[in-house]
Amino acid sequence: MKSSSKHWDAVFSGAEDSQLGWYEKGASKSLELLNHIPKLENATAFLPGVGTSVLIEELLSKGVKLVLNDISIEALNRVKSRLGDKCNEINWICQDIAQPIQDTMPNIDIWIDRAVLHFLTDEDDIKGYFKNVKSILKAGSYAMFAEFSKTGAPKCAGLTLHRYSVDELSERLGSEFQLLIHKNFTYINPGGDPRPYIYTLFRRNSGN
Ligand SMILES: C[S@@+](CC[C@H](N)C(=O)[O-])C[C@H]1O[C@@H](n2cnc3c(N)ncnc32)[C@H](O)[C@@H]1O
Repeated sequence: MKSSSKHWDAVFSGAEDSQLGWYEKGASKSLELLNHIPKLENATAFLPGVGTSVLIEELLSKGVKLVLNDISIEALNRVKSRLGDKCNEINWICQDIAQPIQDTMPNIDIWIDRAVLHFLTDEDDIKGYFKNVKSILKAGSYAMFAEFSKTGAPKCAGLTLHRYSVDELSERLGSEFQLLIHKNFTYINPGGDPRPYIYTLFRRNSGN
């Protein structure tokens, strides 16, 4: 089955945040990598497939401006009601991240993906995703990817995954992106099961 808005709307309608298989109370592992970026304050971050992640509030508290994407309107509406007035400061994009992103986007300094890319399994969709990464990230910007590693579970949320190695991420990004950090991290999901992830931070070369 393909990742679709219908599938994800049903997932979010059917569960509280804390029951979701990827739920995190705090986004410490993502922040550990993002804290290597010299200046987060006033940077603009694009979060594809943001779901209902608490990383949103963590980034807002650091003065990061946000562009939030998800294929699920249910997920985005849940975040909007959680944020109240703060949601007016955010750019919202409800669409499939494998499809071209509108060109009225603000300049993006940081791309932050946790557990989204690995749901794209068609080669055309994966290519469409990386085309978006490359078209919206300017020179000197950063990209963080936290995906199921090659030793991770083959499925999540009822969908088959395309799991990643650092080498594959580097190859798909191309030579204009330099790998800064990579770490293995085993996340324990709400059911108590270990989920091995690979966390990576890349920087796009200046002058590209
Ligand atoms: C496993 S959840 C991770 C959510 C969030 N990034 C986090 O770490 O809590 C995957 C998210 O990606 C979204 N998603 C799945 N396929 C997508 C696609 N093709 N385009 C945009 N969002 C997608 C889902 O709706 C869901 O919110």
